[in-house]
Amino acid sequence: MSKFRWIPLAIIVVLVLSVGTAFSHSAHKNDSQKKSTPSRPAAAIQSSGSPWGANYFPNVELTATDGRKLRFFDDLIKDKVVMINFIYTSCVDSCPLETARLLQVQKLLGDRVGKDIFLYSITIDPDHDTIEVLAAYAKQFHAGPGWLFLRGSEPDVTQLRKKFGIYEADQGVDQNLEDHIISLVIGNQKTGQWIKASAFDPPQLLATKVGSWLSNWKIASKVKRDYDKAPKLRNLSRGESLFRTRCSACHTIGGGEASDIARGDLGPDLFGVAAKRDRAWLIRFLAEPDKMIEEKDPLALSLVQQYNGLKMPNLRLNEIDIAELIKFLVEESARLAPTPQPPEKK
Ligand code: HEC
Repeated sequence: MSKFRWIPLAIIVVLVLSVGTAFSHSAHKNDSQKKSTPSRPAAAIQSSGSPWGANYFPNVELTATDGRKLRFFDDLIKDKVVMINFIYTSCVDSCPLETARLLQVQKLLGDRVGKDIFLYSITIDPDHDTIEVLAAYAKQFHAGPGWLFLRGSEPDVTQLRKKFGIYEADQGVDQNLEDHIISLVIGNQKTGQWIKASAFDPPQLLATKVGSWLSNWKIASKVKRDYDKAPKLRNLSRGESLFRTRCSACHTIGGGEASDIARGDLGPDLFGVAAKRDRAWLIRFLAEPDKMIEEKDPLALSLVQQYNGLKMPNLRLNEIDIAELIKFLVEESARLAPTPQPPEKK
């Protein structure tokens, strides 16, 4: 128990109550919305104890970026612990953040990814996302072995999303790719535990969920936890909490000597950015980076080029969010700035 003493007991209780039920609830919710989605068949309950066996998940064929044809159930999820998100590469808002979170989880889990934990990003826009396009996207996000980017036929992928309870066509949202809901699912096929996760969750929590809670309580990573160095509990400002949930997957502030790209970061280090950039430019860039890139704003374009073509996503921030974020960037940069030394005495 000592290893996990930092996980508040309340969270464990909530997890025990919600694992399985969260997924079955959403699957059922979907069933009631759309009659054509079959409800969980009683016969699907496997001897392994998992109700989400081969009878539940379609064994549709997906193609990986190296050209391998893989069957969803047999090759990708059977007896595995997996983290799956549905994305499309031209998405300018939620998908890059979600995919950046997967990169953080990949880093935290290290060589367990590809051995006992697998990450899958499945495109919902196979017309645009050819294997070549997906391969380039995987490269932009530094996907290592064990993290596959996959493409299948649209009806097959829609069927998968329905099975995971993350397809809400009846509400009209999926008429438009841009409105596709945040869709991260983690699970252990063997034990039948499936949970929806949020890209706003801290990567450590996601890594613990997938690497420990769903993996028979194995230690999530080999990183030794040094409790003395744990940050003190305090109330976060709105700006800091926005930064942690929406920005920290791609950006650091004062991240150190090495250049951010060399360190494997997806976006630039933001130390001193508020002082470096014109305020009106910064405010607009945070509000609609996609529009500025589309309009070929020279600075935005040169940043995209510098960052291997990866674009800053539009995180749907409102005016107050932006003001709070800039305030946090200014304060954090001032806090991290080297303190001026007193002048030397002659
Ligand atoms: C999926 C990764 C990702 C996320 C999430 C993200 N960014 Fe970015 N950001 C980038 C990339 C890549 C660039 C550089 C390319 C570009 O400008 O499009 C960038 C550029 C920037 C710049 C311009 C830097 C400069 O030197 O002028 C700022 C400011 C910025 N981001 C702030 C934020 C803030 C604040 C958040 C959170 C609300 C955020 N970003 C979330 C990837 C991301």
